[in-house]
Amino acid sequence: MLAGKRILLIVSGGIAAYKSLEIIRRLRERRAQVKAVLTAAAEQFVTPLSVSALSEEKVYSDLFSLTDEAEMGHIQLSRAADLAVVAPASADILAKLRAGLANDLASTLLLATDKPILAAPAMNLRMWEHPATQENLACLKERGLRIVGPNEGNMACGESGFGRMAEPAEILAAIEAHFTEGPLAGHRALVTSGPTHEPIDPVRYIANRSSGKQGHAIAAALRAAGARVTLVSGPTCLADPDGVTAVSVVSAREMLEACQAALPVEIAVFAAAVADWRIAAESGRKLKKTGRPPPPLQLALNPDILASISQQREQRPALIVGFAAETERVVAQAAAKRLRKGCDWILANDVSPAGEVFGGDCNTIHFIADGESEAWPRLDKSAVAERLVARIVKHFCIREIGT
Ligand code: CTP
Repeated sequence: MLAGKRILLIVSGGIAAYKSLEIIRRLRERRAQVKAVLTAAAEQFVTPLSVSALSEEKVYSDLFSLTDEAEMGHIQLSRAADLAVVAPASADILAKLRAGLANDLASTLLLATDKPILAAPAMNLRMWEHPATQENLACLKERGLRIVGPNEGNMACGESGFGRMAEPAEILAAIEAHFTEGPLAGHRALVTSGPTHEPIDPVRYIANRSSGKQGHAIAAALRAAGARVTLVSGPTCLADPDGVTAVSVVSAREMLEACQAALPVEIAVFAAAVADWRIAAESGRKLKKTGRPPPPLQLALNPDILASISQQREQRPALIVGFAAETERVVAQAAAKRLRKGCDWILANDVSPAGEVFGGDCNTIHFIADGESEAWPRLDKSAVAERLVARIVKHFCIREIGT
């Protein structure tokens, strides 16, 4: 399973650094390629020679080595991997990664990589429990960092408690899980789909033409990428995608309630065509023709689910994606909608009848984010879903250098 996989192993300082040798040995046994990077502190615990002998590769440690820059620049080194593993991950390197510091090769690579990062923290119990470390970890996890360990037990410093690095076998299992479970493993996602039905009386309702195809395809693609997905859908004729937790709702108010119940999640995609209005006073009895003029239908505004969740302070998903169904000035209206509702990305589509988006199999999307605007070609709805999910994966994995 790991054969041919390229692992960038970053070893930071700490007594647990000696276990990195065992990790390299086990990775090599599984025919993974290991490029190892030692921090200056790590070199106090393991020698570049032993790391190089086991990995059968050159060992990297100097940010300013001209030879390395000529052979393989640090940006290239950070990209020429399938997964970056930090083991042990000291409190210091986690703090640097959270703050975006890049003052040595290891921290620069972590900031520059476009690949997922798995960290195996190892530190003294008090350092582990310190609010600074816990806040750093919470923030890093939200950005997509995966963590294995630490374990509880006796530590080299003589204290006992949480802080021992996970065992090499556990780290190997986490690496293998990463490659089998997909890049969004460990992430939770919420997707809304379909129309909502707003009852007029027990037999009649207001609806729209949404089929739910786009939302369901996004839920399936997120699941395929390893995310744990809750799909909150209004009435559709579609089967629930495999492996997702499906919650069926009817009205906009039920949809909002189901979405709130699905939080916290890191990713939320609001693809449902939610009815903007409901009947102000739904009748409990069937409205009858009485010979008098037809009954007036008084409308009341429905909650805006996307806007409510985007603007809430507590449990706001890290990445919120909305859709914008427009029939004129599509991009300008969608860009304004993104700001008005407070979501991060918006996928604009032209829903004029000629485009056959509602109920159809294809969609022509214009992707809009902060400072970004990109026209996608006309694509099958499942291809739109895959393209969006590829972007979500990139969003959670990339930390670009800002130069
Ligand atoms: N949306 C929502 N709740 C609503 C209405 C819309 O969550 N009550 C979400 C949709 O799921 C979509 C986005 O908001 O992600 C935009 O929906 P759209 O129908 O394009 O816009 P509206 O909010 O209805 O605004 P307008 O009618 O002014 O275009």
